Amino acid sequence: SENIYILGIESSCDDTAASIIHNGKILSNVIANQSIHEEFGGVVPELASRAHQQNIVPVVHQALAKANISKDQLHAIAFTRGPGLMGSLLVGTSFAKSLAFGLNIPLIDVNHMQGHILAHFIDVEGFKKPPFPFIAMTISGGHTQIVKVKNYFDMDVIGETIDDAVGEAYDKSGKILGLGYPAGPEIDKRAQLGNPKAFKFTKPKVDGLNFSFSGLKTAILYFIQKETKANPNFIAENINDICASIQYTIIGILIDKLKLATKQTGIKHIAIGGGVSANSGIRKALKDGEQKFGWTTYVPKFEFTTDNAAMIAIVGYLKYLEQDFSEANVTASARLRI
Ligand code: KG4
Ligand code: ZN
Repeated sequence: SENIYILGIESSCDDTAASIIHNGKILSNVIANQSIHEEFGGVVPELASRAHQQNIVPVVHQALAKANISKDQLHAIAFTRGPGLMGSLLVGTSFAKSLAFGLNIPLIDVNHMQGHILAHFIDVEGFKKPPFPFIAMTISGGHTQIVKVKNYFDMDVIGETIDDAVGEAYDKSGKILGLGYPAGPEIDKRAQLGNPKAFKFTKPKVDGLNFSFSGLKTAILYFIQKETKANPNFIAENINDICASIQYTIIGILIDKLKLATKQTGIKHIAIGGGVSANSGIRKALKDGEQKFGWTTYVPKFEFTTDNAAMIAIVGYLKYLEQDFSEANVTASARLRI
């Protein structure tokens, strides 16, 4: 049983992805992005479902071809059960079920948020794996959570957003500034050229380890409306400083909560995941925290931070080792909890 091949399938949002894992190593990691949503400044669920249906067979074909194996060599099919957009999840779930049924191999349902966390356990040269227990912070366009991870499948959500996700805060700020979608990477790029203290945005007051980002978005909107009334070129003249100031505020919020989480739990190993973990500001702040607060921090390889199927495949592999398989009547779950 040292030669386990598992196919992972991810279709929770707007990326159709498939990956083959051989024991702990990723052999292929294929993603079909759906550029259609850029025109609308956000993901349109109906269009996402249709694109998944178009993409899923070619993406799985490619994943098998790149791994240089045939589907008959697979030991199990792992798929994202939730959370996510229901129509998108249904495509991956139905496809995974049918393929497992056709090949007569086990089906393994995976929680997308556990995938973001357990992506740290993919074997990658030069990347260390966090020891249990550790604190995971998952920051993406759909989610913002702080999780106490005691073991692979023993985790507690100890904090989360009560409204917008942090990636949403980036994307909505970008919309106000007239930047493209998703705006996170562009704000990050401009932030590195600007003065983070040029403009001040107040941090939301939220109890404990929970987050709130919708007030920040509104504060930015009012600020920009006021300033452009006085100077119509305000955005163009100050874009880098505005981005730097927004980023400084957001990073401050995330770091404050991590400080509190490590204080409350006594755990100083911190792992991040999700699309926003690509952000240069959070990466730097985490590194600085190693000196300042005695943290040890873990940032996954870039291709395993944004939505991908390798993280689903690694969870599939870990569950396969425990023979933790799905029932044949398992259903997609848009609000699945960790
Ligand atoms: O994990 P992901 O690919 O998909 C979701 O599950 O949402 O995350 C996408 C989010 C978007 O909101 C995008 O703006 C943000 O991640 N993002 C960034 C950066 N790269 C991607 N936000 C800030 N800085 C970045 N460098
Ligand atoms: Zn995600």
